[in-house]
Amino acid sequence: MTELYYFDNSATTLKKPAAVAEAVYHAIADGQLGNPARGSHSASLNALRLTEALRRKTAVLFGGPDAANVAFTANATASLNLVLKGLLTPADHIITTVTEHNAVLRPLYQLEEQGASISFVGVDECGTLIYPDFSRLLRPDTRAVVVNHASNVTGNAADLEWIGSFCREHGLIFIVDASQSAGVLDIDMVKQHIDVLCFTGHKSLYGPQGTGGICLGDRPLAFVPVVTGGSGFHSFDKQYPKQMPTLFEAGTQNVHGLAGLSAGLDYIEQKGLAAISLQLKELTLRFHDQIKDIPGIILYGSFASDVARAPVVSLNLEGWDSGDLSDALFMDYGIAVRPGAHCAPLIHQAFGTEKTGMVRFSFSSFNTLEEIDYAAKSLRQLAEEG
Ligand SMILES: Cc1ncc(COP(=O)(O)O)c(C=O)c1O
Repeated sequence: MTELYYFDNSATTLKKPAAVAEAVYHAIADGQLGNPARGSHSASLNALRLTEALRRKTAVLFGGPDAANVAFTANATASLNLVLKGLLTPADHIITTVTEHNAVLRPLYQLEEQGASISFVGVDECGTLIYPDFSRLLRPDTRAVVVNHASNVTGNAADLEWIGSFCREHGLIFIVDASQSAGVLDIDMVKQHIDVLCFTGHKSLYGPQGTGGICLGDRPLAFVPVVTGGSGFHSFDKQYPKQMPTLFEAGTQNVHGLAGLSAGLDYIEQKGLAAISLQLKELTLRFHDQIKDIPGIILYGSFASDVARAPVVSLNLEGWDSGDLSDALFMDYGIAVRPGAHCAPLIHQAFGTEKTGMVRFSFSSFNTLEEIDYAAKSLRQLAEEG
């Protein structure tokens, strides 16, 4: 088989630290991990120790106020559904942005069908949020602001500290989708006034698929449990318990996956988030630098070196459909990228690319400079050959 040059890390990271695979293997092969918080025998306690340690590591990574405020879910989509449907009501007005993924938009549209209203902060021609929109859209019934930390289309990051301060000033709940930024950019829930952070485990946290979570800030929020069932305690109550982390963890946890996620977080800690962030920015800007003058290329978002970003470069080549271009990259060069709409319809509408889509290259800390140079050279060759 020809070598695969994988640049679809915003969808999921393909290469994981060896320790992640080993952790998942041992979680099963060693036969020591039972069902956490479901018994007092050693297997159940081992699983409980693992999940509690991971809550602590997660809270540290995100600057969360309390490890007990971290709950684990299957992915960011599950987290966002649990949070948005458990917290918001048909009486609420919600401010969100046109950079959101369908994991935010579709739950909000469901709430809209029930009577809630939604307003969208727009972007300028570089894909940067138009910050005055937040005040312009504010209404007396506004209850929450939901923001994508880093766009999965442009990679550009929102200024969470600014938006968090705006939310505090106006008594709004601040919910952040950190799917593309967790493990890439600094997140400090206290400093950035984040009330709810939703994350996924299988992208830049290098965990296995089927892992993710919710981290709550220090302000009490009244959630309705959306998924209910076994909790392991208060079994005779008809009502599902509302305390964290049980609130979001009905049923058996993916402990084997969480063992892998824990190793992913260790990798980030060992390498250092700041070093990873710098490396990813270097890869992104190097790629951008080498392709920006290819005849017919159209690039989306801001590549200014002082702009915080996730490692994403989305582009089009004049005369090419994004699906055809990504097929050619794969067939001729073994390059894996993601064409189309990236489940983010509104940002594509903002850029006028709803028909063509875009070709998205996205990098991980396992990509090398040589791979970046190969990708840039291949794209140039395709553009020149037409
Ligand atoms: C910005 C954003 N939000 C949410 C998601 C959903 O993540 P998951 O598929 O892990 O639930 C993605 C996935 O690509 C994303 O990019």
